Amino acid sequence: MSQEVILTGIKPTGMPHLGNLVGAIQPSVDLSHKKDTEAFYFIADYHALTGLKNAKELSQFSREIAAAWIALGLDPEQVVLYRQSDIPEVFELSWILACFSPKGLMNRAHAYKAAVQKNQENGETDLDAGVNMGVYTYPILMAADILLMQARWVPVGGDQVQHIEIARDVAQYFNRQYQREVFTLPEALIDESGAVIPGLDGRKMSKSYQNTIPIFAPAATLQKLVARIATDSTRPGEPKDPNASTVFHLYRLVATESETDTFRKAFLAGIAWKDAKDQLYEVLNRRLSGPRERYHALLEDDRDTLDRILSEGVPKARAVGAATMRKVRKAIGVN
Ligand code: ADP
Ligand code: TRP
Repeated sequence: MSQEVILTGIKPTGMPHLGNLVGAIQPSVDLSHKKDTEAFYFIADYHALTGLKNAKELSQFSREIAAAWIALGLDPEQVVLYRQSDIPEVFELSWILACFSPKGLMNRAHAYKAAVQKNQENGETDLDAGVNMGVYTYPILMAADILLMQARWVPVGGDQVQHIEIARDVAQYFNRQYQREVFTLPEALIDESGAVIPGLDGRKMSKSYQNTIPIFAPAATLQKLVARIATDSTRPGEPKDPNASTVFHLYRLVATESETDTFRKAFLAGIAWKDAKDQLYEVLNRRLSGPRERYHALLEDDRDTLDRILSEGVPKARAVGAATMRKVRKAIGVN
């Protein structure tokens, strides 16, 4: 029996931050070491194009995601790593799947619905204002990414579960129509911790809130950002609630259990915010300095290695994609 396929994509929309690390990059790196699976990881650059129209940024952010994955432990020997835009079969399949995707299903997709709702709130007369067809058909392209590689497991954050369900529905419509198992039915694999990492202001860390700590910020910037984390007004000596503190939350992500215990006690004993932040900076920097070095080496000094790794994944991914497309074309009658 062939191995089960595990597949995930990351959209290159900006410098990866600690939320991305904990919610997406680290879980995918951990899963890639799993035995008995074949892993396909890619940079979803055509998904990013729905919103990002700056050529330099799209290209740079794509390289940054690849470098981040490798710097944080992804082994390109174990994983097929590629850029979505290098796999033309994805786009052929995307059209075919569009013909199996009920329009109503797209109306209910959360990103589109949120855009419509925003227009409503802003009193726009055209509820589709600012929505391009890429945003509207986003779930179909994502279904093509997944189904092309016959993925069984798709590690994603909670916000993406609806998209995996759509991919599964569309695969079922197709299989049923042609009475054969052309596509493997995919399932979302959600990080059990379900952790939502808070940002500098205490809201969810997100590029859209400009409250992020970039994973690979230089040490001095990291320290400055940590100093900016919002805290309450308790003074040195006054007990602090660790569970309500972003400083504590971030510390726990990177510290050992016994360090976290000691830190919790220090909170209850009234550690000064300045000292707590210094300690947070220390553990963050300890965790990130090695990856930071590898990341910058890949992006700056070792550009050829990064390009080579990305190009090596392409024929492997395309071979799997071509095999799926042969089955698809045969099923629909265009072979
Ligand atoms: P952003 O909100 O910064 O635009 P994305 O939506 O591009 O981030 O998220 C990419 C991935 O990182 C998703 O899988 C998402 O679940 C995860 N992620 C983003 N922010 C966080 C966070 N604050 N905590 C946990 N996971 C996050
Ligand atoms: N839409 C995903 C996100 O925003 C990225 C993505 C594109 C993806 N294609 C995928 C994730 C296929 C998993 C599988 O995070």
